[in-house]
Amino acid sequence: MLNISCIYKMKDIVTPILNWYQENARILPWREQIVPYHIWLSEIMLQQTRIEAVKKYYHRFITEVPTIHDLAVIEEEKLLKLWEGLGYYSRARNLKKAAQIMMEKYDGRMPECYEELIKLPGIGEYTAGAIASIAFHEKVPAVDGNVLRVVSRVIGSTKDILLPQTKEEITNELKKIMPENSGDFNQGLMELGEVICVPNGEPFCFKCPLNKICIAKRDKLTDLIPVREKKLKRKIQEKTIFLLYHENKFAIRKRNSKGLLANMYEFPNMDTFLDEDKISKKLGEWNLSAKKIQYIGKEKHIFTHIEWNMIGYKIEVKEKNTEFIWKDIDEIEEKYSLPTAFSKFKIFFEPTLFDYGEE
Ligand code: ADE
Repeated sequence: MLNISCIYKMKDIVTPILNWYQENARILPWREQIVPYHIWLSEIMLQQTRIEAVKKYYHRFITEVPTIHDLAVIEEEKLLKLWEGLGYYSRARNLKKAAQIMMEKYDGRMPECYEELIKLPGIGEYTAGAIASIAFHEKVPAVDGNVLRVVSRVIGSTKDILLPQTKEEITNELKKIMPENSGDFNQGLMELGEVICVPNGEPFCFKCPLNKICIAKRDKLTDLIPVREKKLKRKIQEKTIFLLYHENKFAIRKRNSKGLLANMYEFPNMDTFLDEDKISKKLGEWNLSAKKIQYIGKEKHIFTHIEWNMIGYKIEVKEKNTEFIWKDIDEIEEKYSLPTAFSKFKIFFEPTLFDYGEE
């Protein structure tokens, strides 16, 4: 059980959170008018990146894909393009799958309760709770990392928030105190975690509506709470990335239909670091030969379970081959979804960027 102090009861956080949220809720596009599809989309996008960055993606997505029906029939290429840069492309694919189920089973609408929402692809406990409470006023919690931090600090819990059991206990405590306006309460807790009870650096306790009852503040434990013990061990993958070009056309290819970044496009690459000799050999295997090879530097990209340490070479080739797709920069930008890991090398797209001043 959680060590909830006897100096106050969990339910004492409800009114201060609701009042604070009423005064301080940020103005966000999906809050202007509550549309379940918009809430769903924003919640999935917010799992990927910060609120400010989401706004741009959200607007574009809603404009291009205004309804659940449009989402159910969207072409995969277009979907991935709209998601480009957000990462975790399986989330975008799950949006489409869930929309198809809504068309088949729910008359083109979102199911209106937690128990049905959670059955859909890509909707877990947090998202089901967020949609059910914000869009349908169901009295269920939505427990994300922000909520775990705020609650752990307020009650002075030193339990590891990365353990499923801790999340379950906090969820159960919140279930007991959910108010009628559950959506505002959940969003208030999350937002407090995002802007006041922040994860990195000193929290802004002087502005916090819970500062009178917060155990972590009272005992000066905000730098120790929340406790996060589980360390993720990522596999390190070395990679060589080839920016191959011939007369203003760059080579890309489609990735495998299974696994990481499935079906997206990539620059040709190898799962090891290659020196120039090995690069020339590899080019031969691709029926290409180099006119000029330039090392363009290192980049790192971190996925959940793997880290890519990449080195890049920009290589002018004497001819094109048929194995790759050769496109100019604008067309790649417009039509092909290049995951962020690869687009880190896109700044070298200008064929002339390095040619300037060289013999
Ligand atoms: N973070 C993720 N979803 C949120 C929401 N609905 N309100 C505030 N912060 C959030």
